[in-house]
Amino acid sequence: MKGLILAGGSGRRLRPLTHTSAKQLVPIANKPILHYVVEDLVGVGVTDLGIIVGDTAAEIRDSVGDGSRWGATVTYIEQSAPLGLAHAVVEAGVFLGDDPFVMYLGDNMFEDSLEAVVEGFAEGGGVSARLLLSRVDDPGSFGVAELGDDGSISQLVEKPENPNSDLALVGVYLFGSAIHEAVRSIQPSARGELEITDAISWLLERGDTVEHHLLDGWWIDTGKKDPLLECNRLVLDDLTADVAGSVDAASVLEGTVRVEAGAEVVGCTLVGPVVVAAGARIEDSRVGPYVSVGADCTVTDATVDHSVLMESSRVAGGAHLSDSVLGHHAEVSGGGSASLLLGDHSVVELGESTGGEGV
Ligand code: G1P
Repeated sequence: MKGLILAGGSGRRLRPLTHTSAKQLVPIANKPILHYVVEDLVGVGVTDLGIIVGDTAAEIRDSVGDGSRWGATVTYIEQSAPLGLAHAVVEAGVFLGDDPFVMYLGDNMFEDSLEAVVEGFAEGGGVSARLLLSRVDDPGSFGVAELGDDGSISQLVEKPENPNSDLALVGVYLFGSAIHEAVRSIQPSARGELEITDAISWLLERGDTVEHHLLDGWWIDTGKKDPLLECNRLVLDDLTADVAGSVDAASVLEGTVRVEAGAEVVGCTLVGPVVVAAGARIEDSRVGPYVSVGADCTVTDATVDHSVLMESSRVAGGAHLSDSVLGHHAEVSGGGSASLLLGDHSVVELGESTGGEGV
């Protein structure tokens, strides 16, 4: 079975961060989302991987390379334009051939391994697709599956205004070769994209067998700030404590804290779960819970909770950040509180009265 990872999307819902960085490379607990995706696939024996890339191709190639560090082989497939998930399957046609494949959206994260999901699919014969479903509170934001009396999928609707079900289509799909005819038979949706949901509906209408698997563990589409931070929280909940970096005697570590070799903590209270990457320096600050401090960040005289600080970002001067994502080399200073989503190299000075949400 092959793997097709979709990493060509523009990340519109995570702007301004995604003006300069790929959404699939945002770190969760200091590891890029896309690396979790590759590990998941390799973990179930899927090592022949195609990665669909768009405008951020160079950055994605730099980060994943040829896949050999995971024992995988990666083929990069340039998508001519971001025209939808089914369009990506069309463009991957040569790579996929007639092999069964797992299609994995490169910004989706899962608690559980894919083992139960892929089991038996390739040998199944006669099954055109297997979908993963998860119960959600906001089905209107996703593709939604309706089940018939016999428990099988009766209908799929992409982002319905009035959903008849809370079963969302999760970003992992298993396909046999029948999907190739389906993706060539559908028309673009109202948002101008070839929707994979429409291609699967085409299979259903033709009478093909489309199986489904209901997820137990959590699943997050990390394409927006709040789900991304929630994902960081969930992954940090499983953090293992390890202090390899330097922590001075005046600092207090509570809960699960990981300070990597080459990181420095001076005069701080770290409230776990917190992870601090190599080269970061945290001084006279209170950090945590649920904070990922990226490589070479500096946090000085600040308070940070429930946030992701990407590589070389800086927080200082009495700032209090909550629920924030800071892009590479972003800088926040000043004595106010805020919840920020900052692009790379942004500079924000908080006044005493600053509060609430900002971008
Ligand atoms: C896409 C699919 C949708 C699915 C979602 C999962 O939505 O079109 O059916 O539920 O991924 O993340 P998009 O992220 O393109 O809006």
